[in-house]
Amino acid sequence: MFSYRHAFHAGNHADVLKHAIFVHILDYYNHKETPYWVIDTHAGAGIYDLTSDWATQNGEFTEGLDRLLGAESMPALIERYLQCVQHFNPDGVANFYPGSPWLALHLLRETDRLHLFEMHPSEINVLRDNLAQQGRRAIEQTTLHEVDGFTGLKSLLPPQPRRSIVLIDPSYENKNDYRAALLSIKENLARFSTGCYAIWHPLVQRLEAQEMVRSLENLDVKWIHASLAVSKPADDGYGLHGSGMFVINPPWTLHKALNEAMPWLVKILGQDERAAYTLTLSPSAEAPAVAKRVKKNRHIKRAGKPSPKTSTDSGLKTP
Ligand SMILES: C[S@@+](CC[C@H](N)C(=O)[O-])C[C@H]1O[C@@H](n2cnc3c(N)ncnc32)[C@H](O)[C@@H]1O
Repeated sequence: MFSYRHAFHAGNHADVLKHAIFVHILDYYNHKETPYWVIDTHAGAGIYDLTSDWATQNGEFTEGLDRLLGAESMPALIERYLQCVQHFNPDGVANFYPGSPWLALHLLRETDRLHLFEMHPSEINVLRDNLAQQGRRAIEQTTLHEVDGFTGLKSLLPPQPRRSIVLIDPSYENKNDYRAALLSIKENLARFSTGCYAIWHPLVQRLEAQEMVRSLENLDVKWIHASLAVSKPADDGYGLHGSGMFVINPPWTLHKALNEAMPWLVKILGQDERAAYTLTLSPSAEAPAVAKRVKKNRHIKRAGKPSPKTSTDSGLKTP
Protein backbone atom coordinates (compact mmCIF):
# COMPACT_ATOMS: atom_id res chain seq x y z
CA MET A 1 0.00 0.00 0.00
CA PHE A 2 2.82 2.37 0.80
CA SER A 3 5.04 1.98 -2.25
CA TYR A 4 3.44 4.71 -4.40
CA ARG A 5 5.35 8.01 -4.60
CA HIS A 6 3.88 10.66 -6.85
CA ALA A 7 7.32 12.15 -7.61
CA PHE A 8 7.81 9.35 -10.19
CA HIS A 9 4.69 10.47 -12.05
CA ALA A 10 4.53 14.24 -11.53
CA GLY A 11 3.47 16.19 -14.61
CA ASN A 12 2.40 13.13 -16.60
CA HIS A 13 -0.66 13.12 -18.89
CA ALA A 14 -2.93 12.14 -16.00
CA ASP A 15 -1.72 15.09 -13.92
CA VAL A 16 -2.37 17.40 -16.87
CA LEU A 17 -6.02 16.34 -17.13
CA LYS A 18 -6.61 16.25 -13.36
CA HIS A 19 -4.91 19.55 -12.57
CA ALA A 20 -6.33 21.49 -15.54
CA ILE A 21 -9.82 20.56 -14.31
CA PHE A 22 -8.90 21.25 -10.68
CA VAL A 23 -7.65 24.75 -11.56
CA HIS A 24 -10.86 25.44 -13.48
CA ILE A 25 -12.93 24.45 -10.43
CA LEU A 26 -10.83 26.62 -8.09
CA ASP A 27 -11.17 29.62 -10.42
CA TYR A 28 -14.91 29.11 -10.50
CA TYR A 29 -15.14 29.01 -6.71
CA ASN A 30 -13.17 32.24 -6.53
CA HIS A 31 -15.90 34.11 -8.45
CA LYS A 32 -17.94 34.28 -5.26
CA GLU A 33 -16.65 36.08 -2.18
CA THR A 34 -17.89 33.49 0.32
CA PRO A 35 -14.93 31.50 1.66
CA TYR A 36 -14.61 27.81 0.92
CA TRP A 37 -12.54 24.80 1.85
CA VAL A 38 -10.44 22.58 -0.38
CA ILE A 39 -10.12 19.05 0.95
CA ASP A 40 -7.52 16.85 -0.74
CA THR A 41 -7.99 13.31 0.57
CA HIS A 42 -4.76 12.04 -1.05
CA ALA A 43 -2.33 14.94 -1.05
CA GLY A 44 1.12 13.60 -1.98
CA ALA A 45 4.21 15.73 -1.38
CA GLY A 46 2.75 19.02 -2.66
CA ILE A 47 5.41 20.06 -5.15
CA TYR A 48 7.90 18.07 -7.24
CA ASP A 49 11.35 18.75 -8.64
CA LEU A 50 11.27 17.54 -12.25
CA THR A 51 15.07 17.41 -12.36
CA SER A 52 15.23 14.93 -9.45
CA ASP A 53 16.26 11.29 -9.94
CA TRP A 54 12.75 10.11 -9.15
CA ALA A 55 11.04 12.35 -11.69
CA THR A 56 13.60 11.67 -14.41
CA GLN A 57 13.70 7.88 -13.83
CA ASN A 58 10.82 7.34 -16.26
CA GLY A 59 10.49 10.97 -17.33
CA GLU A 60 6.71 10.72 -17.38
CA PHE A 61 6.41 14.52 -17.60
CA THR A 62 7.95 14.37 -21.07
CA GLU A 63 4.73 12.70 -22.27
CA GLY A 64 2.56 15.10 -20.28
CA LEU A 65 3.47 18.65 -19.32
CA ASP A 66 6.37 18.87 -21.79
CA ARG A 67 4.14 18.20 -24.77
CA LEU A 68 1.96 21.19 -23.89
CA LEU A 69 4.95 23.47 -23.65
CA GLY A 70 5.62 23.30 -27.36
CA ALA A 71 2.06 24.04 -28.43
CA GLU A 72 1.43 27.29 -30.23
CA SER A 73 -2.21 27.92 -29.38
CA MET A 74 -4.21 26.18 -26.77
CA PRO A 75 -7.68 26.02 -25.24
CA ALA A 76 -8.40 28.40 -22.35
CA LEU A 77 -8.57 25.53 -19.83
CA ILE A 78 -4.99 24.49 -20.64
CA GLU A 79 -3.64 28.00 -20.96
CA ARG A 80 -4.90 28.80 -17.46
CA TYR A 81 -3.41 25.57 -16.06
CA LEU A 82 -0.03 26.41 -17.60
CA GLN A 83 -0.19 29.90 -16.12
CA CYS A 84 -0.48 28.26 -12.70
CA VAL A 85 2.44 25.91 -13.40
CA GLN A 86 4.46 28.89 -14.53
CA HIS A 87 3.84 30.63 -11.20
CA PHE A 88 6.13 28.01 -9.62
CA ASN A 89 8.75 28.46 -12.34
CA PRO A 90 9.29 32.20 -12.51
CA ASP A 91 12.52 31.83 -14.50
CA GLY A 92 10.49 30.32 -17.35
CA VAL A 93 11.96 26.79 -17.13
CA ALA A 94 9.57 24.08 -15.95
CA ASN A 95 11.76 22.59 -13.22
CA PHE A 96 9.04 22.36 -10.59
CA TYR A 97 5.66 20.76 -10.86
CA PRO A 98 2.89 21.85 -8.45
CA GLY A 99 0.70 19.03 -7.17
CA SER A 100 -2.90 19.61 -6.20
CA PRO A 101 -2.08 21.07 -2.73
CA TRP A 102 0.23 23.68 -4.25
CA LEU A 103 -2.21 24.60 -7.01
CA ALA A 104 -4.81 25.10 -4.28
CA LEU A 105 -2.44 27.20 -2.16
CA HIS A 106 -1.70 29.34 -5.19
CA LEU A 107 -5.37 30.06 -5.87
CA LEU A 108 -7.00 30.14 -2.42
CA ARG A 109 -7.85 33.50 -0.90
CA GLU A 110 -6.83 34.39 2.66
CA THR A 111 -10.20 33.37 4.10
CA ASP A 112 -10.26 29.96 2.35
CA ARG A 113 -8.92 26.81 4.02
CA LEU A 114 -6.96 23.79 2.80
CA HIS A 115 -7.19 20.34 4.40
CA LEU A 116 -4.66 17.74 3.26
CA PHE A 117 -4.79 14.03 4.05
CA GLU A 118 -1.65 11.99 3.49
CA MET A 119 -0.98 8.58 5.00
CA HIS A 120 2.44 7.66 3.64
CA PRO A 121 4.84 7.94 6.60
CA SER A 122 7.63 9.47 4.47
CA GLU A 123 5.46 11.46 2.06
CA ILE A 124 3.73 13.28 4.93
CA ASN A 125 7.15 14.43 6.16
CA VAL A 126 8.09 15.70 2.72
CA LEU A 127 4.73 17.48 2.55
CA ARG A 128 5.26 18.96 6.02
CA ASP A 129 8.77 20.17 5.11
CA ASN A 130 7.55 21.64 1.83
CA LEU A 131 4.73 23.44 3.62
CA ALA A 132 7.11 24.80 6.28
CA GLN A 133 8.97 26.59 3.47
CA GLN A 134 5.84 28.43 2.37
CA GLY A 135 4.80 31.80 3.73
CA ARG A 136 2.96 32.25 7.04
CA ARG A 137 -0.37 32.60 5.30
CA ALA A 138 -0.09 29.21 3.59
CA ILE A 139 0.94 27.54 6.83
CA GLU A 140 -1.94 29.10 8.74
CA GLN A 141 -4.61 28.22 6.24
CA THR A 142 -3.51 24.60 5.83
CA THR A 143 -4.24 21.64 8.11
CA LEU A 144 -2.39 18.34 7.61
CA HIS A 145 -4.18 15.13 8.56
CA GLU A 146 -2.00 12.03 8.85
CA VAL A 147 -4.95 9.65 8.65
CA ASP A 148 -6.91 7.77 5.99
CA GLY A 149 -8.45 10.36 3.66
CA PHE A 150 -11.37 8.12 2.66
CA THR A 151 -12.68 7.83 6.19
CA GLY A 152 -11.24 11.12 7.53
CA LEU A 153 -13.21 13.18 5.03
CA LYS A 154 -16.47 12.83 6.90
CA SER A 155 -15.01 14.48 10.01
CA LEU A 156 -14.77 17.72 7.97
CA LEU A 157 -18.17 17.72 6.30
CA PRO A 158 -20.31 19.71 6.12
CA PRO A 159 -17.79 22.55 6.09
CA GLN A 160 -18.45 25.97 7.60
CA PRO A 161 -19.30 27.97 5.50
CA ARG A 162 -21.00 25.41 3.33
CA ARG A 163 -18.76 25.60 0.26
CA SER A 164 -16.14 23.00 -0.47
CA ILE A 165 -14.15 21.32 -3.22
CA VAL A 166 -13.14 17.74 -2.42
CA LEU A 167 -10.42 16.09 -4.51
CA ILE A 168 -10.24 12.30 -4.19
CA ASP A 169 -7.05 11.19 -5.89
CA PRO A 170 -5.89 7.76 -4.71
CA SER A 171 -3.16 5.82 -6.50
CA TYR A 172 -5.47 2.73 -6.71
CA GLU A 173 -2.47 0.49 -6.09
CA ASN A 174 -4.76 -1.22 -3.67
CA LYS A 175 -7.83 -2.43 -5.58
CA ASN A 176 -9.95 -1.72 -2.48
CA ASP A 177 -9.43 1.98 -3.23
CA TYR A 178 -12.16 1.78 -5.90
CA ARG A 179 -14.76 0.66 -3.39
CA ALA A 180 -13.43 3.00 -0.70
CA ALA A 181 -13.69 5.99 -3.05
CA LEU A 182 -17.25 5.13 -4.01
CA LEU A 183 -18.29 4.54 -0.42
CA SER A 184 -16.70 7.79 0.69
CA ILE A 185 -18.57 9.70 -2.06
CA LYS A 186 -21.90 8.15 -1.10
CA GLU A 187 -21.42 8.79 2.64
CA ASN A 188 -20.24 12.33 2.16
CA LEU A 189 -22.87 13.32 -0.39
CA ALA A 190 -25.39 12.34 2.29
CA ARG A 191 -23.66 14.70 4.75
CA PHE A 192 -23.00 17.50 2.28
CA SER A 193 -24.83 17.21 -1.01
CA THR A 194 -23.86 20.56 -2.55
CA GLY A 195 -20.08 20.19 -2.45
CA CYS A 196 -18.02 19.77 -5.58
CA TYR A 197 -16.37 16.34 -5.54
CA ALA A 198 -13.67 15.51 -8.12
CA ILE A 199 -12.62 11.87 -8.33
CA TRP A 200 -9.61 10.88 -10.39
CA HIS A 201 -9.36 7.35 -11.80
CA PRO A 202 -6.94 5.45 -14.05
CA LEU A 203 -8.07 3.76 -17.28
CA VAL A 204 -7.31 0.13 -16.53
CA GLN A 205 -8.76 -3.25 -17.44
CA ARG A 206 -10.04 -3.94 -13.96
CA LEU A 207 -13.55 -4.86 -13.01
CA GLU A 208 -13.38 -2.74 -9.84
CA ALA A 209 -12.44 0.35 -11.88
CA GLN A 210 -15.32 -0.12 -14.32
CA GLU A 211 -17.75 -0.79 -11.50
CA MET A 212 -16.72 2.36 -9.69
CA VAL A 213 -17.29 4.55 -12.74
CA ARG A 214 -20.61 2.86 -13.48
CA SER A 215 -21.78 3.37 -9.90
CA LEU A 216 -20.71 7.00 -9.93
CA GLU A 217 -22.63 7.54 -13.18
CA ASN A 218 -25.71 6.06 -11.55
CA LEU A 219 -25.70 8.54 -8.68
CA ASP A 220 -28.65 10.89 -8.72
CA VAL A 221 -26.52 14.03 -8.84
CA LYS A 222 -25.14 16.37 -11.47
CA TRP A 223 -21.83 15.17 -12.86
CA ILE A 224 -19.37 15.50 -15.71
CA HIS A 225 -16.99 12.70 -16.61
CA ALA A 226 -13.97 13.33 -18.84
CA SER A 227 -11.53 10.61 -19.78
CA LEU A 228 -8.42 10.71 -21.91
CA ALA A 229 -6.63 7.69 -23.37
CA VAL A 230 -3.24 8.62 -24.79
CA SER A 231 -2.52 5.22 -26.33
CA LYS A 232 -3.70 1.65 -26.54
CA PRO A 233 -3.23 -0.35 -23.32
CA ALA A 234 0.18 -2.05 -23.06
CA ASP A 235 0.14 -5.78 -23.86
CA ASP A 236 1.47 -6.64 -20.40
CA GLY A 237 -1.18 -4.44 -18.78
CA TYR A 238 1.44 -2.22 -17.12
CA GLY A 239 1.74 1.54 -17.43
CA LEU A 240 -0.96 4.16 -17.47
CA HIS A 241 -2.50 4.60 -20.90
CA GLY A 242 -5.17 7.01 -19.75
CA SER A 243 -7.18 8.47 -16.91
CA GLY A 244 -10.44 10.18 -16.09
CA MET A 245 -11.90 12.84 -13.85
CA PHE A 246 -15.42 12.46 -12.52
CA VAL A 247 -16.76 15.75 -11.15
CA ILE A 248 -19.93 15.87 -9.06
CA ASN A 249 -21.71 19.25 -8.86
CA PRO A 250 -19.33 20.68 -11.48
CA PRO A 251 -19.09 24.37 -12.33
CA TRP A 252 -21.55 25.04 -15.15
CA THR A 253 -18.61 26.40 -17.16
CA LEU A 254 -16.67 23.11 -17.07
CA HIS A 255 -18.44 21.27 -19.87
CA LYS A 256 -17.84 24.00 -22.43
CA ALA A 257 -14.21 24.30 -21.37
CA LEU A 258 -13.68 20.53 -21.68
CA ASN A 259 -15.51 20.35 -24.98
CA GLU A 260 -12.87 22.66 -26.34
CA ALA A 261 -9.91 21.15 -24.48
CA MET A 262 -10.40 17.38 -24.85
CA PRO A 263 -9.95 17.04 -28.65
CA TRP A 264 -6.90 19.29 -28.37
CA LEU A 265 -5.46 17.14 -25.57
CA VAL A 266 -5.93 14.03 -27.73
CA LYS A 267 -3.98 15.73 -30.51
CA ILE A 268 -1.16 16.94 -28.29
CA LEU A 269 -0.86 14.08 -25.79
CA GLY A 270 -1.94 11.19 -28.03
CA GLN A 271 0.77 8.60 -28.70
CA ASP A 272 -0.94 6.31 -31.20
CA GLU A 273 -4.14 5.83 -33.20
CA ARG A 274 -6.02 4.66 -30.09
CA ALA A 275 -5.70 8.06 -28.41
CA ALA A 276 -9.23 9.28 -27.69
CA TYR A 277 -11.42 11.06 -25.21
CA THR A 278 -14.87 10.72 -23.75
CA LEU A 279 -16.93 13.53 -22.29
CA THR A 280 -20.15 12.53 -20.63
CA LEU A 281 -22.75 14.46 -18.65
CA SER A 282 -25.41 13.33 -16.24
CA PRO A 283 -28.81 14.05 -17.75
CA SER A 284 -29.43 16.54 -14.92
CA ALA A 285 -26.23 18.49 -15.66
CA GLU A 286 -27.50 19.57 -19.09
CA ALA A 287 -29.70 22.53 -19.76
CA PRO A 288 -33.23 21.00 -19.62
CA ALA A 289 -34.10 21.63 -23.26
CA VAL A 290 -30.98 19.99 -24.67
CA ALA A 291 -30.50 17.01 -22.37
CA LYS A 292 -28.23 14.62 -24.24
CA ARG A 293 -25.04 12.67 -23.88
CA VAL A 294 -21.80 13.65 -25.52
CA LYS A 295 -19.77 10.52 -25.86
CA LYS A 296 -16.77 8.77 -27.32
CA ASN A 297 -15.04 10.78 -29.99
CA ARG A 298 -12.70 7.97 -30.92
CA HIS A 299 -9.74 7.66 -33.25
CA ILE A 300 -8.70 11.25 -33.19
CA LYS A 301 -5.17 11.24 -34.52
CA ARG A 302 -2.37 13.01 -32.78
CA ALA A 303 -0.47 15.85 -34.33
CA GLY A 304 3.29 15.58 -34.69
CA LYS A 305 5.05 15.77 -31.36
CA PRO A 306 5.87 19.39 -30.59
CA SER A 307 9.49 20.21 -29.88
CA PRO A 308 9.86 19.99 -26.11
CA LYS A 309 12.21 22.93 -26.01
CA THR A 310 10.11 25.56 -27.71
CA SER A 311 8.37 28.05 -25.53
CA THR A 312 4.64 28.31 -24.90
CA ASP A 313 2.23 31.16 -24.98
CA SER A 314 3.07 31.50 -21.30
CA GLY A 315 6.80 31.45 -22.02
CA LEU A 316 7.44 28.28 -19.98
CA LYS A 317 10.13 25.85 -21.18
CA THR A 318 11.17 22.34 -20.24
CA PRO A 319 14.16 21.92 -17.91
C1 LIG B 1 -1.81 10.13 -6.61
S1 LIG B 1 -1.02 10.64 -5.16
C2 LIG B 1 -1.71 12.22 -4.83
C3 LIG B 1 -1.34 13.30 -5.80
C4 LIG B 1 -1.92 14.66 -5.47
N1 LIG B 1 -3.35 14.61 -5.19
C5 LIG B 1 -1.70 15.61 -6.62
O1 LIG B 1 -2.57 15.70 -7.51
O2 LIG B 1 -0.66 16.30 -6.62
C6 LIG B 1 -1.82 9.67 -3.92
C7 LIG B 1 -1.27 9.89 -2.51
O3 LIG B 1 -2.20 9.32 -1.58
C8 LIG B 1 -1.46 8.76 -0.48
N2 LIG B 1 -2.38 7.78 0.14
C9 LIG B 1 -2.57 6.47 -0.18
N3 LIG B 1 -3.60 5.96 0.53
C10 LIG B 1 -4.08 6.98 1.30
C11 LIG B 1 -5.17 7.09 2.21
N4 LIG B 1 -5.97 6.04 2.45
N5 LIG B 1 -5.39 8.29 2.80
C12 LIG B 1 -4.59 9.34 2.54
N6 LIG B 1 -3.54 9.30 1.68
C13 LIG B 1 -3.29 8.13 1.07
C14 LIG B 1 -0.24 8.20 -1.13
O4 LIG B 1 0.79 8.07 -0.18
C15 LIG B 1 0.05 9.23 -2.22
O5 LIG B 1 0.96 10.20 -1.73
